[in-house]
Amino acid sequence: MHSATPDTSSPRIVLGVAGGIAAYKSVELLRRLRDAGYFVSPVLTRDATRFVGEVTFSALASEPARTSLYGDPTTPIPHTYLGQHADLIVVAPATAHLIARFAMGLADDLLSATLLASRAPVLLCPAMHTEMWEQPSVQENLAVLRRRGVLVMEPSTGPLAGGDVGAGRLPEPDDIFALVEHVIHGYRGPLSGRRLLISAGGTREAIDPVRVLSNRSSGRQGLALAEVAQRLGASVTLVSASSLDLALDVVRHVDVVHVESAAQMREELLERAEQNDAIIMAAAVSDFTVDPAPMKLKKDDGVPTLTLMATPDILSDLVARRRDGQVIVGFAAETNDVLANAVAKLQRKGVDLLVVNDVSAPGVGFEHSTNEVIILDKNAESSTVTLRSKEAISYEILTRVASLLNQGAP
Ligand code: CTP
Repeated sequence: MHSATPDTSSPRIVLGVAGGIAAYKSVELLRRLRDAGYFVSPVLTRDATRFVGEVTFSALASEPARTSLYGDPTTPIPHTYLGQHADLIVVAPATAHLIARFAMGLADDLLSATLLASRAPVLLCPAMHTEMWEQPSVQENLAVLRRRGVLVMEPSTGPLAGGDVGAGRLPEPDDIFALVEHVIHGYRGPLSGRRLLISAGGTREAIDPVRVLSNRSSGRQGLALAEVAQRLGASVTLVSASSLDLALDVVRHVDVVHVESAAQMREELLERAEQNDAIIMAAAVSDFTVDPAPMKLKKDDGVPTLTLMATPDILSDLVARRRDGQVIVGFAAETNDVLANAVAKLQRKGVDLLVVNDVSAPGVGFEHSTNEVIILDKNAESSTVTLRSKEAISYEILTRVASLLNQGAP
């Protein structure tokens, strides 16, 4: 058997092409990559060849395009040959089916087997119809992959096949090419070198040693923010009142401080505020607390009367102590007159961004893995981020935080 390993020092890219209409754009991406001197090995799925010709890819690439695990004249095990020699695997377009196979660890064709047989960074560029893109199954598969370190380029919004318009378009080949260059030449995320302090979860106020006053926040949005922020290059401290973080990977990558009550959360945040470039208050802080009874309140002693006391507003305290250039983001949970209440809250709290949840809407906010938010900037300019995973929402928020930091806000 002769070795298939090429005699070249150029960075090696496996260009995976899955079966979607956007496959025609990957021809242009291939040309850009070749022009830049990369050694490109195309791998087309069987369905990709319904949309684009294998011959086209072979003619433009560094070696002939491959479409099958079997019958390769250069090597009997093309998936390990490709996977082990790759400096990067780019899949453009990545279809819902390919994403699902990768998330599940299936290896039923050359492209999915190559993805498994590699330790190289992977960049997925999903492209599909908006309905498919927004499916929780697709978003959850992507969330799993992101957690494992896979880079996912958000699709753009615009005309789709069949005359529809929406999210799900494959980004332009030039934009994919620019991201490939970033990854190959040492990925520095937009938050590289920044320190972020993030709060998560619903605080719990003790009534007695057994009972608590709390709220419905699961902490998922705050945890997703912490995880995505560190993936974008930030050093993250997470002050968490959520118990979910114990089950998630996030604790391995970020510094987690566990708290229970609003008072503890306030103390931990204020102590760390000064050292951080940005603070994101995703926690649902109890607005009320009680003086806890030292021993369990017994039923037989009758129904107790709880006297509620207001807790300090941590966000306002953080804003009052804000250091120069520090970006502060608040969240707002609203159930009615959402925008009007949120604009009033934005002005009251003095934050740079306010992320507004209508927690009465389906699939949104507390206890869901998806969210839909309105982001208000300082001038109350609003933009809606439609229903998607909390990871994807985190990208939107953190991209804005990064650009505010770069502008030297406030
Ligand atoms: N917040 C805080 N300290 C509190 C209450 C809230 O820091 N004691 C923060 C939350 O983390 C969130 C923002 O303030 O970032 C808005 O929280 P929200 O509950 O929506 O608003 P409240 O200020 O509590 O006002 P209301 O409950 O009346 O809507």
